Amino acid sequence: MPEQGFPTQNRDMTFLTVYTDHDSSETLLETEDPEEIARALKEIDVRLRHWPVLDELRGGADQERVLEAYRDEVARIVEEEGYTFVDVAQLHPDDAPDWAERARAAREKFLSEHTHDDDEVRFFVGGSGIFYLHVDGRVHAILCEAGDLLSVPKDTTHWFDMGTDPEFTAIRFFHDDDGWVGNFTGNPIASRIPDFDAIAARRASLRS
Ligand SMILES: [Fe+2]
Repeated sequence: MPEQGFPTQNRDMTFLTVYTDHDSSETLLETEDPEEIARALKEIDVRLRHWPVLDELRGGADQERVLEAYRDEVARIVEEEGYTFVDVAQLHPDDAPDWAERARAAREKFLSEHTHDDDEVRFFVGGSGIFYLHVDGRVHAILCEAGDLLSVPKDTTHWFDMGTDPEFTAIRFFHDDDGWVGNFTGNPIASRIPDFDAIAARRASLRS
């Protein structure tokens, strides 16, 4: 495990942590190095690509504006991968009295291990979230940031944590509307791997 801290200027770098899936999980790798991340994800057939970050959209914008801003990138990947449906999902903290309940409900939805019959493909326009991919006895926790386009292959066991105070805007790509149903495995592994808040705090401590 690297002992050195990360340079503070890399504020929006993807952060990968790899754990064993044992009862007391060990950390095998933690890195912000793009080449190291690409190598580790290639081993499990996961694609992480990067599109430009548009600062004016990071805090949220309506769906039409987001899709228009990324029109060329979206058109290219739809053509390449054959997606039939594209939309924008977002969650941003507000002052409404029900924010905490809405945030909790949204977070809970895919916080347990599951699979989908379709690839799960997300581009982070702004904010962040962690995809946990449970493959071959290891868990790859990918903290995605603005500019990250992650493709999780169908049938991959995984879960997603947006943290206790979620904030993100993401473009979603689908091959069909039914593929998005979660097939939950019943494996409680998500409860024993560090969550979004813990990993974000760990990254902050490495940078300080
Ligand atoms: Fe999922």
